[in-house]
Amino acid sequence: MARVFVTRQLPGPALERLSQTHETTVWPESLPPTYEQLRNQAADSDALLTLLSDRVDAALIAAAPRLKVIANYAVGFDNIDVDAATARGIAVGNTPDALTEATADLAFALLMSAARRITEAAQSARQGLWKTWEPTGFLGADVYGATLGIIGLGRIGQAMARRGQGFGMELLTTETRDSSNLEHLLSRADFVSLHLPLTPGTHHLIGERELALMKPTAILINTSRGGVVDQVALARALSTGQIGGAALDVTDPEPLPPSDPLWQAPNLLVVPHIGSATWTARERMAEIAVANVLAGLEGAPLPYQVPTQAGS
Ligand code: DGY
Repeated sequence: MARVFVTRQLPGPALERLSQTHETTVWPESLPPTYEQLRNQAADSDALLTLLSDRVDAALIAAAPRLKVIANYAVGFDNIDVDAATARGIAVGNTPDALTEATADLAFALLMSAARRITEAAQSARQGLWKTWEPTGFLGADVYGATLGIIGLGRIGQAMARRGQGFGMELLTTETRDSSNLEHLLSRADFVSLHLPLTPGTHHLIGERELALMKPTAILINTSRGGVVDQVALARALSTGQIGGAALDVTDPEPLPPSDPLWQAPNLLVVPHIGSATWTARERMAEIAVANVLAGLEGAPLPYQVPTQAGS
């Protein structure tokens, strides 16, 4: 029996299956283990099942001599030093596919909410401020016929594109930072939606210069990783009216501390990283993460090995 440490209870039956075949410890708290607690657990574990909020860096990997596999419960794996793991022959897995549609749904829900000011309007109604039908109340932006700019055309970006098409939007897309399309997209889009992994190349991809290219009415949507956007520049762009609004599922750091100046910015909607938060997606993610652990412990290729290890 191998030793597996799981950093949080997960929905669905997958963990039960894991604990039938391996000595499985599931972190019982509602808040994650600290870095030190995770390192201590990793020290005598053969496998780790981690969340996107768990930092698995080179030092932690070095302190885990038995480790064979790290299965991240997320499609993103920027929390893991994959190079350090690869150098030690440790397989790293993620959970793509399972959350594609759920995350694209959330991105589109953010787009709709920001365009039509749904949270503001609902809050106002609940506060008893709904006095009459108001010709100029909560006027927002049209979605039909508007231009949706999608940056990052992986699974989730493509799923977002399908939603945009279904709503009669014009699409502009670009894959990478270097693409000459990026400036064109930023200056033309009414909505800009980010679907890129966080890497050194995409860190602060959307900064002062990029925000300045956007229309004053444009809305930025981010369901990828907070670090893709320079939040100081974003707060400024919102406060000065350089862009029309932002709707974020992800921030840097997470959670965004109450004192963060971004909270003071107008026309901002933030939700607490719920892109994949449907029962189906989260249970399927658990199934995949467990399958990755089991394969890694057997020394077999992981069903979902991260692209940088799988060579794609
Ligand atoms: C992921 O899996 O990387 C998502 O951000 C989770 O919502």
